[in-house]
Amino acid sequence: MTALSRSWLQLNNDQRTALAAKLRQSFTQLTSNRLSLDLTRGKPAASQLTLANGLDHQIDGDYTSREGTDVRNYGGLRGIIEARELGREIMDVPATNILIAGNSSLWLMHLTLETALRHGLWAGATPWQQSGQASGSVSLITPVPGYDRHFSLTDSHGIGMRNVGLHDDGPDMADVRKLIASDASIKGIWCVPKYANPTGCIYSDQVVREIAELPKVAAAKDFVVLWDNAYAVHDLVFPPPRLASLFEAAAKAGTQRHMVQFGSTSKITFAGAGISFVGSDESVLKRLEERISLITVGFDKLNQLRHARFLGGRVEAHMQQHAAILKPKFDLVVRKLEEDLGGLGIATWTEPKGGYFVSLDVLPGLAKKIVALAKETGLALTAAGATFPYGRDPEDRNIRIAPTFAETDALEAAMDVLTLCVCLASLDKLNAA
Ligand SMILES: Cc1ncc(COP(=O)(O)O)c(C=O)c1O
Repeated sequence: MTALSRSWLQLNNDQRTALAAKLRQSFTQLTSNRLSLDLTRGKPAASQLTLANGLDHQIDGDYTSREGTDVRNYGGLRGIIEARELGREIMDVPATNILIAGNSSLWLMHLTLETALRHGLWAGATPWQQSGQASGSVSLITPVPGYDRHFSLTDSHGIGMRNVGLHDDGPDMADVRKLIASDASIKGIWCVPKYANPTGCIYSDQVVREIAELPKVAAAKDFVVLWDNAYAVHDLVFPPPRLASLFEAAAKAGTQRHMVQFGSTSKITFAGAGISFVGSDESVLKRLEERISLITVGFDKLNQLRHARFLGGRVEAHMQQHAAILKPKFDLVVRKLEEDLGGLGIATWTEPKGGYFVSLDVLPGLAKKIVALAKETGLALTAAGATFPYGRDPEDRNIRIAPTFAETDALEAAMDVLTLCVCLASLDKLNAA
C-alpha cells in the first residue's frame, strides 16, 4: 500500500485531505480488482490437517484398547483410558476426572449449560431456572472481547450476559467479585484461559487462584466456572508459556465441583473429526454421563483409540509442527500492522504467543465502517461486534483477525487491504472532527 509518513496525524487539513484522496484512489483501484480474500475463518489450513494424516494408520486391525475393550462395540461412556490420559496431557486434569465425547467441545458446553439450567449440575441440585430469582432469569459473566459462540449459545438458552473487561492477565477480577457477591442470579463465568479468543491473553497464576475461589464469593451457591481451554497446547513459541492448573487451585480452595473444563483436538488433528474432553469433579461427570446416556450408548471409541495412539506422549512435538506453519502467518500479520499503522495513534493490536487470532482495536466508532469498506474490496472480515454479546461492541472498535486458514500470499494481500481501510476510515474521521 501507499507508504505513509509516520507523522500524518500532525498534518494540516489540506495535507490530510490530499492524503485521504490518495488513499481513496488506492481503495478505488482495489474495489475494481474484485478480490476474494477472507480473514474470518479461525480454522486450520489444509497443511495443518495433513500433519494428522497419520491417524489413518493407527488402527490397522488392532481394535483392542489397553484395558481390553473392543472399541468397535457399544459402551464405555467415559471414554477409553488412553484417550482420557491424552486428555490429561492436553488439559492438565487427571485422567480419572475426564470424560471423552464426540468431535465438539462446544457440544459439551451446551450439555453443561442445559444440565445446570434445567436439571441441576449435581445430583439433588436445584436447576438454575428454579432457583428462586424473582424474574426467573439467570445470567453468566462474559469477559469481553470474547468468543462469539459462547455468547450465542448462552443467549440461545435464555441466559443473560454481564460483561466484564478482559485484561492481559485475565478478566477484571475486582469487577467479577463485585458483581457475583451481590447478585445470586449470576450463576457462572465463561473463561478462555490460554490464548483467549480473540485477544490471545493468558490468565496469570493469581487470576487462576482467584477464579478457583469465586464459588466461595458468589451469592449463588451453584456458581460454575466454565473453563474453555480450547487453545491449551496451541503454542507458537517454545518452551511455551504455562497456565496455572485450575484443577489444583480448585482442590486447594475446595471448589472442584464448581469447575467444568473443556477442550478438544479440533485444532490439533482434524477439526471436523477429533475428540473432545470435559474435566470436572466426579459428581459433575456422573451427572453429565446420565444426560449423555439418554442420547447415545457411547461415543466413537475407534476415534479415541487412534487419537491416543497417534498423539499420546507427543502432543508438544505435534504442536511444534503446527507452529512451524502458523508462526510465519502471525508474524506477517503483526509486521504488516506495525509497518502500516505503527506509531500513527489510530490502532492497537495484540501479539499473541499462541492461539488462533490477532485482536485489532481501531478508533472508537470505526470497526463497522472498516469491515464494510473491506467488504467493498472483496475482503471478508469477522462482523464488527461479533466479539461482544448480542453483537454489540459498545465502542465499535474491535476487529478479530484470523490468520490461520489463508495462504501466505493471500494473507499479505488481505492485510494490505485491511490496513488501507483502517487508514482511510481513520483519516475521514479525523478530517470530519
Ligand atoms: C474458545 C473456543 N472454544 C471452542 C471452540 C470450538 O471448539 P470445538 O471444535 O471443540 O467445538 C473454538 C473454536 O474456534 C474456540 O475458539
